Amino acid sequence: SMATHSDKPKRIVVTGAAGQISYSVLFRLASGAFLGPNQRVILHLLDLPNMEEVLKGVQAELHDCAFPLLDDVVITSNQAVAFKDVDYAYLVGAKPRGPGMERGDLLKDNGKIFVDTGKAINDNASRDCKVIVVGNPANTNCLIAQHYAKDIPRENFTAMTRLDHNRALTQLALKTGSRVTDIKNLVVWGNHSPTMYPDIRNTTVNGKKATELVDSNWIETEFTPRVQQRGAEIIKLRKLSSAASAGNAAIDHMRDWVNGSDEMQSISFYSDGKTYGVPEGLIFSFPVTTKNGKYEVIKGLNLDDEVSRTRIKKTTDELLSERQAVEHLLKMQDLFSY
Ligand code: NAD
Ligand code: LMR
Repeated sequence: SMATHSDKPKRIVVTGAAGQISYSVLFRLASGAFLGPNQRVILHLLDLPNMEEVLKGVQAELHDCAFPLLDDVVITSNQAVAFKDVDYAYLVGAKPRGPGMERGDLLKDNGKIFVDTGKAINDNASRDCKVIVVGNPANTNCLIAQHYAKDIPRENFTAMTRLDHNRALTQLALKTGSRVTDIKNLVVWGNHSPTMYPDIRNTTVNGKKATELVDSNWIETEFTPRVQQRGAEIIKLRKLSSAASAGNAAIDHMRDWVNGSDEMQSISFYSDGKTYGVPEGLIFSFPVTTKNGKYEVIKGLNLDDEVSRTRIKKTTDELLSERQAVEHLLKMQDLFSY
């Protein structure tokens, strides 16, 4: 059976590998849910030195699965080892919020993690390493990591809004009594935060316009706030932030990016200043399709109505203020180049 597998294994790093999201992601990466049934993988598990024992436990469980596609499991608290020659990076390692906090409150503690991470990627990873940032606040953390990885193409740095996208799909499916696969052309714009804009104005359900199947009051007072606040809802119920659904979304995001998909997806990436009027240099969620390992913005969607303009402005302003809050981290380049 091994003969059907591609010869060279791909290296995938997962940071925060002793944490709860990683505990769901790692086993699916090893089973082929990301790169398919013919691609062998080597997993690199990074966490803080005090989590070494836990990492050993996760490594032991990965071994105990006897995954046919899993060639090796590297565990480390050393960034250079963790990012050495990796093809894909799942950046999960960061504090989660608790009840009553906003994701932006994590910026002070989590932002600085991504300075070292960006440098470690720049110095060690494969030159076409694809990166997804999951750790919150994901968009601005991604901006920081990208800033310190100038030798890697900018577009290789993305942040996850796929969980928000998936949440929106299911809420609309539940409301309309349809399947998620019946739903086309849905997008979540902006920041992974309560200012995100889940947009179903162009969405169809079984070929019918979504806005003709649900009333605008439901969109305004139920759908939008529910998707925007779903992370907090999960924290309230589980007493822990979403983990399996977050891990699942990370795999969906990376799989579609690598394999391609004609479906509209929501991916947060570096805005070039020419796309939908979003200022340059924010990690902003846009509608994309994916092909040949690249994502491409879906152009020409109308954002001219009052609601869209207001929402896009709000989430843009929030990302601008998050960037402002980490300005000192984006200026430390010299301190770190030796
Ligand atoms: P967790 O606390 O269970 O795990 C985080 C792990 O990261 C811990 O093991 C911790 O030791 C490790 N860590 C901390 N700093 C590190 C560093 N500098 N290098 C390496 N590892 C480090 O948390 P979790 O529930 O797995 O969540 C992880 C992050 O993902 C949180 O920030 C959370 O808010 C975020 N999240 C994002 C989304 C999204 O949609 N973008 C969804 C869910 C959760
Ligand atoms: C989520 O959306 O579930 C995560 O970002 C966790 C959180 O803090 O909401």
